[in-house]
Amino acid sequence: MDDYVSKTPTSRTLYNRAKVVLPAGVTYGIRYFEPYPFFVAKARGSKLWDVDGNEYIDFWLGHTALILGHSPREVVKAVQKQLENGTLYGVSHELEVTLAEQVAKMVPSAEMVRFTNSGTEANMYATRLARAFTGRNTIAKFEGGWHGGYDALHIGVKQPFDLPESAGLTRGALQDTILLPFNDLEGVEKRLRNEHPASIVVEPMLGAGGGIPAEKEFLRGLREFCDKSDILLIFDEVITGFRLAPGGGQEYYGVKPDITVLGKILGGGFPIGAFCGSRKIMKRLDITTYKRPHYSFHGGTFSGNPITMTAGLATLKILEDGKVTTRLNRLGDKIRTTIQQVFDKHGIDVQMVGAGSIFNTHFAKEPIRDAFAASRADKKKLFDYNMALMTNGVFFLPTHAQALSTAHSKADIEKLFNETEAFARHHNKS
Ligand SMILES: Cc1ncc(COP(=O)(O)O)c(C=O)c1O
Repeated sequence: MDDYVSKTPTSRTLYNRAKVVLPAGVTYGIRYFEPYPFFVAKARGSKLWDVDGNEYIDFWLGHTALILGHSPREVVKAVQKQLENGTLYGVSHELEVTLAEQVAKMVPSAEMVRFTNSGTEANMYATRLARAFTGRNTIAKFEGGWHGGYDALHIGVKQPFDLPESAGLTRGALQDTILLPFNDLEGVEKRLRNEHPASIVVEPMLGAGGGIPAEKEFLRGLREFCDKSDILLIFDEVITGFRLAPGGGQEYYGVKPDITVLGKILGGGFPIGAFCGSRKIMKRLDITTYKRPHYSFHGGTFSGNPITMTAGLATLKILEDGKVTTRLNRLGDKIRTTIQQVFDKHGIDVQMVGAGSIFNTHFAKEPIRDAFAASRADKKKLFDYNMALMTNGVFFLPTHAQALSTAHSKADIEKLFNETEAFARHHNKS
């Protein structure tokens, strides 16, 4: 911590300014970490530079959104051209059609798509759509599942799960959302024995919940259970979409949801969310077919804006053939294996988790299959590890799951391994 403070005096000054006008000095609570976050001056490829000139290899990658790294050439070029042709039309244009076609081509369950500006918004509209389609109020989600700050889904994210995640949630929101145990099909069936929710939303890999992948049999079982029980299955693929495979978690696992929620990578570095599904379900959003009270609303001033559509399209074109994903997933395997080996060698209890090019470290002896197990891991040790990396030029947003991009070089990965080794050695000495 002392090293960090001595290397970041300008960030400290900026943080003191920020605290006056931004609550906690940040624009998003999770971006705060002790003693204060560094402030970025510039980003390029796999690197971030802070206002004090420190260089960091970035494994947080804009909340995992930047699969091609910072400012990839193809995306920047396309966006620069589009900037000259208008940034916001507020009426229909071809780019939104082309990106929707591209999503439908890549995501196995997507026939029709609607764009939003964030994953939170997309989950909100997907939930409303499920309610509109089924005519039911209650919905279900998993313990440790993070779907953004929308009231109905901002429930049961962190331990203790029975404590509201935020002040200001209404009793209605709390009552209408059923919490389910992750990776536990029997538990799901038991909790829903006397319930009939409109939908079950699941992340194919708990992201904020610890980087914990769903087990294949669990997702398959969930699909069967939803079919049998006439419940819509929603995959929140805001993290896994276009990352685990070109078609996301549903391609990776071979399980098709009824509705898919997307975000992050889809925006090519610009704000986005989307929800998609079968024509039959998505038709509920069609104002030419359904009238109130059967029509399900979705909109947004900036939804489908041409800058985001351009960046998203340029990104998906690069990911489409799967070559990037195959390479990054292999690298993800290597990172999980190597970091595990480093800690094993030093006799430090660690469980490396994740899937594809997402990885996370839990300082724990027990296998991590759900958010309960993740919450029992040693968070202080994880913070110390992340801080040691940061002070030595490797950025993990402390205590979160991390990601890989095509911009990471062999040297970047070697540095991660070397700094991990140095931390493990030092940890055992102290
Ligand atoms: C799985 C998942 N769903 C939804 C969201 C919310 O997306 P956004 O931050 O774009 O609102 C996130 C954000 O991290 C996420 O990881």
